[in-house]
Amino acid sequence: MPVTVKSEKQIALMREAGHRLALVHEALQKEIRPGISTLEIDRLGEEMIRDMGCVPNFKNYNGYPASICVSVNDEVVHGIPSRHRILKEGDIVSLDAGLIYKGWHSDAARTWGVGEISKEAQRLIDVTRESFFRGIRFAREGCHLHEISAAVQDYVEGSGFAVVRDLVGHGIGTHLHEDPEIPNFRTRGRGIRLTAGMTLAIEPMVTAGTWQVSCLDDDWTIVTDDGSLSAHYENTILITDGECEILSLR
Ligand code: MF3
Ligand code: CO
Repeated sequence: MPVTVKSEKQIALMREAGHRLALVHEALQKEIRPGISTLEIDRLGEEMIRDMGCVPNFKNYNGYPASICVSVNDEVVHGIPSRHRILKEGDIVSLDAGLIYKGWHSDAARTWGVGEISKEAQRLIDVTRESFFRGIRFAREGCHLHEISAAVQDYVEGSGFAVVRDLVGHGIGTHLHEDPEIPNFRTRGRGIRLTAGMTLAIEPMVTAGTWQVSCLDDDWTIVTDDGSLSAHYENTILITDGECEILSLR
């Protein structure tokens, strides 16, 4: 599929979709504490999305059973919320959420600490978030896609952590996943040339150990092979001729 360039009208709708998702993440952050179940987080998130007149785009996506992906500790992404999974002091939890507003998608992820967490866990969260910001320095018209990928990888590996290779970021618009794929690591070639009006979901997934991951028997949850902690940070962004606009952050 070709990479789509959005019109001003379409961008205005994606801005609204992103803004609503930013509010969902801000609300969910306040709920993160020892004792809450991952299902309760999903329930709160879905309720808020629907109350805003939006649709949770993850729900039933390829059969995914929830609205918010909740991934704890060594779970990288796509954790399935459960009433039996109770957050405890010292855990780190990644929340990945998305919604559809008037036909337009947004997608964003954050990782939070539960109560007091270790210094190393906090550094993993901080490096993951910062790697996104290093990457988007190259998210502007005229840059090539793999400049983003290389910047994320260099920052993460320079900080002593590893980037997951099995999952990538993506274009986003009237579909949750559009072209191009956006690796968080170097691949062959320069990738596409970016132009104003492209909307992308940039999402570094970082581990404190190996980059190698596996899928659990539930067919969804991705975990690190060595049991090391993992963090995720994602925003939906708009390419412009200057600095990109982060649609899913206030
Ligand atoms: N944010 C995720 C992604 O970009 C979407 C979760 S997949 C789902 O792939 F199945 F849970 F929706
Ligand atoms: Co995504």
